[in-house]
Amino acid sequence: AGPQTAPRATPQTAPQAPPPSPSMRTLRERRDALRDEIVAGTRAAVDRQHALGKRTARERLALLLDEGSFVEIDMYRRHQAHGLGMERRRPHTDGVVTGSGTIHGRRVFVYAQDFTIFGGSLGEAHAVKIQKVMDLAVSTGSPFIGINDSGGARIQEGVMSLNGYGGIFQRNVQASGVIPQISVVLGPCAGGAAYSTALADFTFMVRDAAQLYLTGPDVVEAVSGQRVTHDELGGAQVHGTRSGIATFVHDDEETCLEDVRYLVSMLPANNLELPPRGPSRDAASDLRPRLAEIVPVEPNKPYDMRQVLAEVVDDGEFMELHEGWAGNVICALARIDGEVVGVVANQPLVLAGVLDVAASQKAARFVRFCDAFSIPLVTLVDVPGFLPGTDQEYAGIIRHGAKLLYAYCEATVPRVQVILRKAYGGAYIVMDSRSIGTDLSLAWPTNEIAVMGAEGAVNVIHRRELASAADPAALRAELVAEYSRQLVHPHYAAERGLVDDVIDPAHTRSALARGLAMLRDKRRPAVQRKHGNVPL
Ligand code: HXC
Repeated sequence: AGPQTAPRATPQTAPQAPPPSPSMRTLRERRDALRDEIVAGTRAAVDRQHALGKRTARERLALLLDEGSFVEIDMYRRHQAHGLGMERRRPHTDGVVTGSGTIHGRRVFVYAQDFTIFGGSLGEAHAVKIQKVMDLAVSTGSPFIGINDSGGARIQEGVMSLNGYGGIFQRNVQASGVIPQISVVLGPCAGGAAYSTALADFTFMVRDAAQLYLTGPDVVEAVSGQRVTHDELGGAQVHGTRSGIATFVHDDEETCLEDVRYLVSMLPANNLELPPRGPSRDAASDLRPRLAEIVPVEPNKPYDMRQVLAEVVDDGEFMELHEGWAGNVICALARIDGEVVGVVANQPLVLAGVLDVAASQKAARFVRFCDAFSIPLVTLVDVPGFLPGTDQEYAGIIRHGAKLLYAYCEATVPRVQVILRKAYGGAYIVMDSRSIGTDLSLAWPTNEIAVMGAEGAVNVIHRRELASAADPAALRAELVAEYSRQLVHPHYAAERGLVDDVIDPAHTRSALARGLAMLRDKRRPAVQRKHGNVPL
C-alpha cells in the first residue's frame, strides 16, 4: 500500500441563493411598459404617418370599431428572419395589428397594416397573423375586414413572403360566400396585397391616399418606358371609374370607415344567417304618387332612376356600389319595410340605360353576392337592350352579358322584378325575367316588353313593303301603330303569365314590401353539383 495521504478537504462555500423572483408587481409593470411601447409605436414613425395625412393602424381601428371593443391578438409577434440586417430590426406586431371587435354590437375580425413598420410589407409572421384572424372569422362566422397600407411582399423575406400571400389568398377563396370580406385601402397596396383586395366582396379606397397596383411606376417605366404617377396608375379615381375594382371611393379615412360600418350593418354575419332586419320609419303601405311624375311616359325620355329608388326604399336611403363605374346600371343595398334588399336597376340617364360589358360585370357580381348572403333581389327594369357595336362585341359582350344571365339563373334568394317602361330583347330576359326564375314580376301600365321597339321591328318585318310604298313615312307610322297595338300593349305579357300584376306606379313600394313578405320563407334547393362553370 502506498503512503497514506490525508483526504483533501473540499473548500466549504456558502450555497448561492437563487436571485429573488421579481414580484408580481414588477412583472406586471414590465408587461405594461412593453405593451405601452408597442401600442405607442415610435414617435418619429407616427409623426411621419400623420404628416402624410394618414392615421396609424390603431387610430383606424378605433374609428372602425365600437369604442373599447377591440381585442388584440398576437401583439408580441416578431419576425424570425435572418440576413440583410433583419436580426437588428425585430419590431413587435411585425407591421400588422390584428384582432376582433364589434360594429354596432356585432362581432367582426380585422387587421390593419402599419406602414410605419417595414412600410407595412408582408413577411412570414405578418402573413401568419392575418391568416389566424381569417381562420377565426370563418370558424365564428363573422365578417372579415382588412385595412391595407403596404408596400407588398417584404423583399427581405423572399419566398416566405410570397408563401404568406398564397396562404391568405387560399383563405380568401375558401371564405368567399361564407363570410362577407371587406378590403379597405388607405395607402399603397402593391403587388400581392392587390389580389387579396380583388378577392374580397367589397373594396373601399380613399382619394389621393390609396393606390392599388400589381407593379409600381418604377417597374412600369423599366418594362415599357411609360412614365405614370402612383395615382395615375392605381389611384382611387382610376379604380372607381375605369377598372371597377373600387366598390366605394371616399375623400377621407373618416367617412370611409364610417361607411364600412354602415355596410356591415346591412350584411348578415355569414351565409347561414339572414341580414339584420331593422324597423322602418316610413310605412310601407304609403302611396308614392311622385313616382308617376319622375318617370316620363315616353319610353325614350331619360330620368334619374336614383329618384325612383329613393321613393321605394325605406327612408329614401340606399348604399350605391360602384357609383362612378358603369353608371348605366345601378347596384345598391337598401331596406324595404325593414328588410335588406339588393337593388339592380337600369339607369336611363346614362347611355339610355343599355347593358354593356362593364354594366354586366358589375350587376353579375352584385347578384352573386346577394345570392350568397341571402339578400333578396329587387330588379327595376327600363332597358332598351344590349349596347350594339364592334367595341362591345370585340370586348366580349356575349361572355360578360352571359355572366349576368348566369348569376340570375343561379340565384335562389327571393326575386322581384318591376318593369317600369321598356324591356327589349335579350336585356329583358337577363333583367330577371319570368323565364329565368323571378318569383314575382310586376309591371307599370307604361311597360313595353318586346323583342325590339316598334320602329325597329317594323323596319325589319316590313322592309320590302316600305321600300316599294308610295308614301313610306305614312305606311311606317301605320305599321308602327299596328305593331304596338298588337304586341306591346301593357297587358300583353300579363295575359300570358309573364307578368304577375300590372300595378299603379304609386303602389310600387307597398307592392314590393308585400311581395318580399310573401317570399320571405322561400326555400333553397340543395345543390347537387360541385360547381357550375360561370363564364369568367
Ligand atoms: C420591404 C419595404 C417594402 C417592401 C416598402 N418598404 N416596401 N420593405 N419590402 N416591399 C419599406 C421601405 O424600405 C421603407 O423603409 C419604408 O417601407 C417606407 O417606404 P418608402 O419607399 O420610404 O415610402 P414611400 O415613398 O411612401 O413609398 C411607398 C411604396 C414604395 C410606393 C410602397 O415603398 C414601394 O414602391 N415599395 C415597393 C413596392 C413593391 O414593389 N413591392 C413588392 C411587390 S411584389 P425604411 O426603413 O426606410 O422606413 C409582390 C409579390 C407578390 O408583392 C405577388 C403575389 C401575387
